[in-house]
Amino acid sequence: ATAQIGVTGLAVMGRNLARNFARHGYTVAVHNRSWARTQSLVADHGADGTFVPSESMAEFVASLERPRKVVVMVKAGGPTDAVIAELVPLLEEGDIVIDAGNAHFPDTIRREAELKAHGLHFVGTGVSGGEEGALNGPSIMPGGSRESYTTLGPILEDISAKVDGVPCCAYVGPNGAGHFVKMVHNGIEYADMQLIAEAYDLLRQGLGASASEIGDIFAEWNSGDLESFLIEISADVLRHVDAETGQAFVDVVLDRAEQKGTGRWTVQNALDLGVPITGIAEATFARALSGSVPQREAARGALPAHAAAWDVQDRDAFVEDVRLALYASKVVAYSQGFDQIAAASAEYDWDIDRGAMARIWRGGCIIRARFLNRITEAYERDANLPLLLADEYFTGAVGNGVAAWRRVVAAAAQNGVPTPAFSSSLAYYDGVRADRLPAALVQAQRDFFGAHTYHRVDRDGTFHTEWTGDRSETAQ
Ligand code: 6PG
Repeated sequence: ATAQIGVTGLAVMGRNLARNFARHGYTVAVHNRSWARTQSLVADHGADGTFVPSESMAEFVASLERPRKVVVMVKAGGPTDAVIAELVPLLEEGDIVIDAGNAHFPDTIRREAELKAHGLHFVGTGVSGGEEGALNGPSIMPGGSRESYTTLGPILEDISAKVDGVPCCAYVGPNGAGHFVKMVHNGIEYADMQLIAEAYDLLRQGLGASASEIGDIFAEWNSGDLESFLIEISADVLRHVDAETGQAFVDVVLDRAEQKGTGRWTVQNALDLGVPITGIAEATFARALSGSVPQREAARGALPAHAAAWDVQDRDAFVEDVRLALYASKVVAYSQGFDQIAAASAEYDWDIDRGAMARIWRGGCIIRARFLNRITEAYERDANLPLLLADEYFTGAVGNGVAAWRRVVAAAAQNGVPTPAFSSSLAYYDGVRADRLPAALVQAQRDFFGAHTYHRVDRDGTFHTEWTGDRSETAQ
């Protein structure tokens, strides 16, 4: 046995991870269900380093040094279970199975427990950065036992992206923690993408600007606080011209956004935990709305807009307003995502270091952005920050843009431009900072029709009012 790490499942992500390991000097065992794909990896990329190809799973396992480290990079769900079932009888105590796909964290919790019963470590890890990241340095979010991280961690840190020399890989927490954090990363990714799309729509409709002009605006934004991978690629996309029609590429793409499920999982879990992640939820529903074809057909032309033609007077001021509103909404989305991580960490006993998560998201991943440095610093100031949005840096940065944010959301409503993520983020901001919420009335209504009781502002205890009787109050 000579290989230090193995990869089974050599579709594009697995292939690129294997190449990344090889380029970092590791001897990499490679295996795929179809032998031809394994052969082509070695034929095409043998120059990357040392690969040990195997046709059968048994040979593949035998080619690995102990404790064996096997990265499974196949489709989430059934295919992952099938590969694990094939691997387990071939492995020995202390070996480590790494699931680097986008698994749903409850599956990871289950698999970790199953493998532990066999004396094996199971590491469910988030890997972000797409194909390019897998090859040149992704952000890596490994869960599982701490013990497994002592041997596996250094290798993963080695192949991860680096920001100022710091690896974008850190131990996340036990069992499902790594995949959970990756799931929330994807939820934030959905929110970020939707917010950028809304900014684009506002500029397009408010200014009548062309796609490429908006691409130029985004490119300019990318040199400031908004600097991020997603803004950068959005600028690129908007400036791209379709070769066939000569039109802006974005105009020939059907306006239906699909998803593979990680955003939906994020929202489902937030509902279970009772964490308001409104930006992510709106972004997920915005994709669903875009795909609601019969509903959209029924509504188009039938629902009156009663909106005036939009006539922005000061172009530069409007662009700046949209930029500030985007930044503020983005802070809300991240703040909500970090809240969800904190709630899950408490619920599932994961003890996740949120500062470390911000640090490993600074590079390699899809949501990488300059502003992740500000989040890292906020958690350095206070590791137990109750609300990211309330950190002193963000109160300043967001406070600076609130007036603009209100103008943008108001103008969007006035002019009939849908901005679910911008608007709900502002509503969250105003809700979370409110002295009093109308939740008092909701609770009173619950007591009225269901005797659900209430608490009082002026003394402890649980109370109920006899609404149908003399309206006297009784302590419960
Ligand atoms: C990443 C991405 C990656 C993938 C998303 C796409 O971090 O590298 O998040 O995992 O591109 O899963 O998700 P949807 O298909 O749901 O948009």
